[in-house]
Amino acid sequence: MNIVEKAVEKLKNLQPEPPAPASAPAYVEAGSLHSASTIERLQDSARILDHSSETAPPWHVDHMALERMGLLSADKEEAARLADELRRIKRPLMNNAIGKGAAKALAHAERIVVTSAVPGEGKTFTAVNLALSLARERDFEVLLVDGDIPKFDITRILGLEGRPGLMDALSDEQLQPTEVIVQTDIPNLLVVPVGKRQLLTAELFGSLRMEYVLEALSGRNRRRLVVFDSSPLLVTSESQALVSHMGQVVLVVGAGRTPQQLINSALQNVNDSQYVGLLLNMSSLPANENHYDCYYG
Ligand SMILES: Nc1ncnc2c1ncn2[C@@H]1O[C@H](COP(=O)(O)OP(=O)(O)OP(=O)(O)O)[C@@H](O)[C@H]1O
Ligand SMILES: [Mg+2]
Repeated sequence: MNIVEKAVEKLKNLQPEPPAPASAPAYVEAGSLHSASTIERLQDSARILDHSSETAPPWHVDHMALERMGLLSADKEEAARLADELRRIKRPLMNNAIGKGAAKALAHAERIVVTSAVPGEGKTFTAVNLALSLARERDFEVLLVDGDIPKFDITRILGLEGRPGLMDALSDEQLQPTEVIVQTDIPNLLVVPVGKRQLLTAELFGSLRMEYVLEALSGRNRRRLVVFDSSPLLVTSESQALVSHMGQVVLVVGAGRTPQQLINSALQNVNDSQYVGLLLNMSSLPANENHYDCYYG
């Protein structure tokens, strides 16, 4: 029984027995009506409280689905090597987030976007694996946000289509941004799906509401890292708007596939106040050679 329900019960007990209708004076009727509506109001708030305190069971993250989509490796050796590489990649990001990294006093260092110049360079692979790796850290909680509006691969792979998400939080001012956060059954991993498609995505990403939503998603908990998957910088304008709100930018570069000129163009979208990590993704090489190389700074 919650506090409001207890109050309702107490109030009921304090009520005098309803008088027999024939002998009841008018003022008693009025008094009991007033008390009845108080009880109804309390009962209503009890229902609202019950509803809002209902916690949905955590969303099951299907590892087999991640494997099928090539986001996790079924091969133990390969998985161990990837885990090792991710440790190197996440360390500077975490240090920056707690103000102990090379980039001191970085604004919004807890906001990390994984992006690239052109499609298919390994952004979603990196964002998901980075989030899983960060979630294993004792001192952090990770919120993985599907910021790739056209493809919404994270939303699809996790089976979260049709759930409210980032786009709803941006377009519906009545919605509390935290309402779109999905708790998962992986400890320390929360997800925000893409939500309902909207027109003018770039304008939404560039809006004041976006800053409010990002603040709310980061939460009061300064140990929460928010990792965004995004669309490619040279293909959509919303990814450029998204990147502009971030403290840390991980630019994935597909080894042997992205010409330097495109990487330079993509880098035009970041500024000196952001921390940028270039991640050379060797995924196009044979499996035994495919790994990451990173250059930060
Ligand atoms: N380091 C890696 N090791 C193994 N496979 C990888 C690696 N990086 C990417 N891949 C695979 O390459 C494919 C493309 O990767 P991914 O979907 O992450 O790219 P993307 O940049 O998100 O593409 P898009 O721009 O279309 O969203 C996927 O099948 C992914 O599993
Ligand atoms: Mg992707």
